[in-house]
Amino acid sequence: MMEITRSFEIEVEMIDSDHRRLLDIINEITQAIDDKREAECARLVPDFVALAKRHFAREEALLAKNGYPGVEKHRKHHASLEDKMNTMLALAERVVESAAARDELKKELIFFLMDDVINEDMDFKSFLVNATSPAEKSSDG
Ligand SMILES: [Fe+2]
Ligand SMILES: [Fe+2]
Repeated sequence: MMEITRSFEIEVEMIDSDHRRLLDIINEITQAIDDKREAECARLVPDFVALAKRHFAREEALLAKNGYPGVEKHRKHHASLEDKMNTMLALAERVVESAAARDELKKELIFFLMDDVINEDMDFKSFLVNATSPAEKSSDG
């Protein structure tokens, strides 16, 4: 069971709660694989991808609203993750019959969340913490 430690928080609640929900689904997927509930795992991956896309859109809107100068660059970064998300969807279709696909999927999901989603967001952390109102920081979005 993985958790998001303090150093990986953006300190804007809408973003951090989305990141936690994404990690919750990864933990559910990992648990489903470990419990040999492959069909459930296959069903959860599209949920993860859909939630990730909704998160990217919400985050981009928040960055734009607060006038973050790197919003276009970050939008392009999110768009560049489309291939990885398609790879995860393709792996999900093979988890029932392939142990290799299950292992690969677990790895892809964790690297995707930690490196591509959370770590890349550190670029705007200090900007956003200073720019957002206290209400935005604490609301659930
Ligand atoms: Fe994010
Ligand atoms: Fe992001």
